[in-house]
Parts: sequence; C-alpha cells; structure tokens
Amino acid sequence: MYSPKVVRQLGRPQGILGRLILNRLNAVNVGMNEVTYTSLDLDASDRVLEVGFGGGALLHKILHSSACKDVAATDLSDLAVSRAKKIFKNAIDAGSLELRLCSDHVLPYESGRFSKVCCVNVIYFWPDAKAALSEIHRTLSDQGRLVLTYCEVPPDRTAEYSTKRVGRLLRSSGFAVESSVSGSDKENGTYHCTVVKKATGSRR
Ligand SMILES: C[S@@+](CC[C@H](N)C(=O)[O-])C[C@H]1O[C@@H](n2cnc3c(N)ncnc32)[C@H](O)[C@@H]1O
Repeated sequence: MYSPKVVRQLGRPQGILGRLILNRLNAVNVGMNEVTYTSLDLDASDRVLEVGFGGGALLHKILHSSACKDVAATDLSDLAVSRAKKIFKNAIDAGSLELRLCSDHVLPYESGRFSKVCCVNVIYFWPDAKAALSEIHRTLSDQGRLVLTYCEVPPDRTAEYSTKRVGRLLRSSGFAVESSVSGSDKENGTYHCTVVKKATGSRR
C-alpha cells in the first residue's frame, strides 16, 4: 500500500521524490511496457502517441526498436517532460519525436493524427476517464488502435479496474474491444493490456 504522498507523485511526479519515482517506474513496469509494445504491433508507417510516458521506458523502446519516425508523447508532469527532453534530445532534434506537457483531457493534436495510441498506468489518475478516452478517440485515425494497460488494483487501492469495468468505459467512449491479455508481477499484481479500435459509427 502506497502512502497518499507517493500516490500523488505517481499521478504527477515532482521535485526530488518525483525524480526517484520516474527512475523506479521504468524498473517496476518492465512487464507492462513489454506487453504494451508487443500489442502496439508497430510498423514504419505508424504515427504513435504515448499518453503519460512517465520515466520514458516505453517511449525509448518505441523509438529504438521500431522503425516509426512520427512519435509524440505527452505527460502532465513538467518534471517528466523536462527530463525526457534531455534523454530523447537526439530524436527530438531529428524530428522523429514531439514531446508535450499536456493538461487534463486536452490533447494538443489534430483529429485523426495517430494510427496507434498507448497509455500505461494512467487511467487511475484521470478525474474523468470517459472524457480522457473520448479525447484519445478524437486523435485516432479511423483504422487506429488504442492500447490501454492498467493494473487491476490501482496504486491507492480504492477501486478495481477489471476488464469488464474498463471495457464498459471504453465502449461508452466510442471504442470496440479487439483483444485483451493479462499478466502479473510482484510489483503490480494482475494487469491487463487491452487493444481497442473505433467502434463502427462512433465518429466524433
Ligand atoms: C504511474 S505513472 C506511469 C508512467 C509510465 N506510463 C509507466 O507505466 O511507467 C503515471 C504518469 O502519467 C502522468 N499523467 C497523469 N495524468 C495524466 C494525463 N491526464 N495526461 C498525461 N499524463 C498524465 C503522470 O504525470 C505520470 O508521469
């Protein structure tokens, strides 16, 4: 069980503790990032967005293991963004990565820009998950896919994110569930990685 201070930091890392947490996230979320990367099924033509990249381990994998040249990533934490600007300076200078600090539920991208969006361990921090998912839906192309990865029991342990509950949320935000895989590890307990596409007739 994390203290309320650590839970707040996980939702928006700041200061010295935030730096420690960003490094730690990369270490403890290896399995969740790996299954997300596999589920993204990227090819060179994909235009990819990661929402809530935190310590940047998945972003690193996308930039270095796939041939994608159009990658964008957002985070709510100015610490996460400034840290990532240093780590990924080469990709930013080469024009293959665009990093943005974003405010809740407003993604600064045109509609339909991305073919793949991923989001790992962020759902618990959205004050309005349906609004956040609807905004992701807007930025996806018609054939696009969202890969949403989440722990069944969130860091504050106050709720449960079953595939059933998240599936309902996704459907109410205009998505159709395509597949879902589950895994578990010591740090995160049971987690799920759900791939969704835009539901027919859900154009927004
Ligand atoms: C628990 S960390 C997960 C980081 C990384 N995805 C991982 O799994 O290791 C949550 C991250 O999401 C960011 N975040 C929270 N709400 C967000 C939002 N509405 N939009 C973008 N990022 C958000 C936080 O600042 C933090 O960096």
